[in-house]
Amino acid sequence: SLKVQTDASVAPVSPMLYGLMTEEINFSYDGGLYAEMVRNRSFQHRGKNFSSWLPASRGNGTVEIDGGTDGPSTALSTSMKLNLKAGGSDQAGVANMGYWGMGVKPGTAYTGSLYAKSDKARTAQVMLISDESGEAVAKADVAISGESWKQYTFKMTSSAKAVASSAYHLEVLFGESGTVELQLVSLMGPTYHDRANGNRSDLMSMMAAMNPHFLRLPGGNYLEGDTIKERFNWKETIGPLVDRPTHRSPWNYTSSDGMGLLEFLEWCEDLKVEPVLAVYAGYSLKGEHVTGAELKPFIQEALDEIEYVTGDASTKWGAERVKNGHPAPFPLQYVEIGNEDFFDKAKTYEDRFDDFAKAIRAKYPSLKMITTMPITRGNPDVLDDHYYRTPEEMFSMAHMYDKTDRKGPKIFVGEWATRTGSPTPDFGAALGDAAWMTGMERNSDIIIMSCYAPLFVNVNPGGMQWPSDLIGYDASKAYGSPSYYAQALFASHLGDHTVKTDATGLNSRFFWSATVSTADKMLHLKLVNGSSSTQKLSLDIPGVASGKATTYTLSAGSRWATNTIERPEAIKPVTSSTTWKANLDYTVPGNTIQVIDIPLK
Ligand code: AHR
Repeated sequence: SLKVQTDASVAPVSPMLYGLMTEEINFSYDGGLYAEMVRNRSFQHRGKNFSSWLPASRGNGTVEIDGGTDGPSTALSTSMKLNLKAGGSDQAGVANMGYWGMGVKPGTAYTGSLYAKSDKARTAQVMLISDESGEAVAKADVAISGESWKQYTFKMTSSAKAVASSAYHLEVLFGESGTVELQLVSLMGPTYHDRANGNRSDLMSMMAAMNPHFLRLPGGNYLEGDTIKERFNWKETIGPLVDRPTHRSPWNYTSSDGMGLLEFLEWCEDLKVEPVLAVYAGYSLKGEHVTGAELKPFIQEALDEIEYVTGDASTKWGAERVKNGHPAPFPLQYVEIGNEDFFDKAKTYEDRFDDFAKAIRAKYPSLKMITTMPITRGNPDVLDDHYYRTPEEMFSMAHMYDKTDRKGPKIFVGEWATRTGSPTPDFGAALGDAAWMTGMERNSDIIIMSCYAPLFVNVNPGGMQWPSDLIGYDASKAYGSPSYYAQALFASHLGDHTVKTDATGLNSRFFWSATVSTADKMLHLKLVNGSSSTQKLSLDIPGVASGKATTYTLSAGSRWATNTIERPEAIKPVTSSTTWKANLDYTVPGNTIQVIDIPLK
């Protein structure tokens, strides 16, 4: 039996319990959320080369691709030089294959830009070409004026007959012999809220449907980099794209840094969530670290970063943000100092945390400091715990915070996931996640925030560095894993306090959470049957109003069942309506997650 005493409040639920975690991994931004379609647009991949670019021609045109000796900016100081033999109907130039193709839809506008210099005035014909038919579905003529570097922008709209798919590529062709140099060749698809340099709408909408309250950025390992030089050096990710040098990420590819600090913050703004800002804290993944006086420039870098996020136009870095196009400061309550610093074998974190926290608190006393490991000094406000586990482990851990000391720092479960299934988790993982989430909700007086990781994966071969990611996609389509749906349901049906429950005779893989929304007079009851056997329940819920309850059921025939890019909705929530009463005999089938909204008197 399960008794839910809806009038016996136990503990508050954090209004920020569910959020998102992000970093450049699995082609999350380049080849993912960031709407850029051109891969290796500034020829920086793995140390300056032309991967993803191929010679292209029409008729008898030919091209030799070479490296140019200068570029349009200090940050992009090289180029791709094309030695062209062309004329009449013989065209030559280059093709870009995108991130495993380019996603094109019919009747859709694409926004382009390229930097060029040329031996003479000439026209570049830019086209989106179907890989299957070889036909151009969108075209723009770009007049290049001549010998000095200049940016050229263009727009093109795909034909109404274009077939929606990822089987497209870009060609930039020329009809006269000679030389032309190119840099930062960009083509952006449609973006969420029509933001310039923005994000893919489908992925943004999927995140919005998760009802998140914050975004932990910019990592993860991506914050730290393999070396200090390869850290997320935020000052090199702001301002015009041509001034961003790009950098190698620890997940082994070069980041275009089109998703820079301001774009992260605008992503928060678009989803109406708050940034949880992780600042680089003097430790990188291969062990390089800095302490004492040498830490000062990194502390200043963090202070400047906080000023960029929160400062007004009267501050140096607030003014820089205004100059970059965002006059209003962003909200900020939490700053995380580093990431997973328990990996630092030299054990320097207590000192580093202390130095950072003191300096940040001196300038920003209201900010709350998050530590990445348990420490004995520095008075952290919040501890970031990470868990990557199997379903069985998640089942056994669902009660682990019930007895946690309430006098210590609050908890941020800043990375967690049940990891079975690849590239996205299977239904067994969703069961583990749901069991775990019941524990987080029950303990949300101490667990103030949580976010699953990693969030994204490009499902093409070579797109994934970390199996088991919440949302999968290719260049034109996206889907949610069963874990995605479980989380979206849990986060969208959550009260402001937990209420007392008493259970007897339930199987050891049965989990539940009961929270009440005071304003809505609604009980949000979550039932998770992680066993393959049916669970019969005698439900006793005094205080239920007469009327209908709404049930959202996520279930699958087997723990191994899953969603894929080909079968994106094999598993998804089913909604039903039931007449509810205080005492009810109820059955939860095996392998089932249910979220039930029950109106209260
Ligand atoms: O989420 C993948 C990685 O797991 C993160 O980058 C890191 O913080 C953790 O080890």
